[in-house]
Amino acid sequence: MIRAQKVFPEGVTHVAREMHPFPVLIARGRGSQKWTVEGVELTDLMMGHGALLLGHSHPDVVRAVQAQVALSTHPGGSTELEIEWAEAVQRLIPSAERIRFVSSGTEAAMMAVRLARIFTGKRTLLRFQGHFHGWSDGLISEANPPYGQAEPGVQPPEFETVKPGCLDRVEQAFIRRPDLAAVILEPTGGHWGEVPLGASFLQGLRELCTHYGALLICDEVITGFRVAPGGAQQKFGVRPDLTVLAKVLAGGLPGGAVAGREDIMDLLSAGKPGPRLRHPGTFNGNPVSAAAGIAALKIVATGEPQRLADAAASRLRHGVNAVIQEERLPWRAYGTFSDVHIRTNYHGPQPDDAEFIPCGGDFDELSRPHPEGLVNASRQAMLLEGVDWFGLRGVTSAAHTDQVIDATVTAFGRAIHRLRSDGWI
Ligand SMILES: Cc1ncc(COP(=O)(O)O)c(C=O)c1O
Repeated sequence: MIRAQKVFPEGVTHVAREMHPFPVLIARGRGSQKWTVEGVELTDLMMGHGALLLGHSHPDVVRAVQAQVALSTHPGGSTELEIEWAEAVQRLIPSAERIRFVSSGTEAAMMAVRLARIFTGKRTLLRFQGHFHGWSDGLISEANPPYGQAEPGVQPPEFETVKPGCLDRVEQAFIRRPDLAAVILEPTGGHWGEVPLGASFLQGLRELCTHYGALLICDEVITGFRVAPGGAQQKFGVRPDLTVLAKVLAGGLPGGAVAGREDIMDLLSAGKPGPRLRHPGTFNGNPVSAAAGIAALKIVATGEPQRLADAAASRLRHGVNAVIQEERLPWRAYGTFSDVHIRTNYHGPQPDDAEFIPCGGDFDELSRPHPEGLVNASRQAMLLEGVDWFGLRGVTSAAHTDQVIDATVTAFGRAIHRLRSDGWI
């Protein structure tokens, strides 16, 4: 770790990897498991920050990547692979009339917003508190509490922010701000579904956007291909104007995309009258990512990985809630797809239902910060029991078997004892 601190601020390369006193270093992964440089086996509930729906090192993805690396990592031109990758996206997501590949979700969200501004001729964006759309200057603020202030170092953003979940509040914003170009959201709720949103909210947003002449942008960086082969838009039956994609899209390699209506995406075309969005980017449509993405999306299309990952998360929530009740903790595990979140300081009902959403899904209740230090402590306690999660939050994959989940529940029980004896709970 001293080596890492000599090269990286905080010794890490991503804010979510910060851990005190120091983070573990991971050497390799397979399926639901990964191993530290010391050879310690961990069950993984980070899953490549959500990118690894199929688990670590799926053999089809590994084969595709190995073959492509030997051919070319960057041909300096267009490839057949990028066409095949885009066709796979089109087959799964009907609103993807046209596609552009970028290198990350951050870039994709940035492009979607720029397209919306050019297309509508309006400036302002409607956002929801707690919804994360990457870390570009235009979108990073308002993703984390305290809300209502810009992130250090960025210009005051051009957006209007409201609490998620209430269509009236959205309509009021439209009335207040006739210059709204688009509404952007994480369709299953911010912070990986910490404050879940349902089909009716999304459908209502669709209607409001159409009525007030704004675009609906679904940020499906997490939900795309994960909550259904066609993402949250398939699950909820809503057709956005633009979709932001990354993570599962590239099968565990870097990659992102904007997909959407042909008339909007045409703003990227030369030769059309009017303003144009010029789109550079050295690694756009990179063939190694394309090869991995094609291999992954073939499996995604069967619907089987989503079924397995959802079932694993449901079993995990169920087991964790049983431990919580045994230990008489004021906590509740919940989630709506292959995710698990723990609400601390919870005193409501504890039904035997892994799909139950506590606090009626209320934004203020579910987004309340956990007691100081508990997220890091819970991450450490689980690590000592052989599980890596974000701390009070995790995500499953198709590779998490019943046996792995049951062992994870046992680890959670032991971690609770550690937290108790250390005075955290
Ligand atoms: C919903 C959402 N949008 C955008 C991003 C940014 O994606 P990337 O990390 O690929 O830049 C993330 C990353 O976690 C995300 O969860």
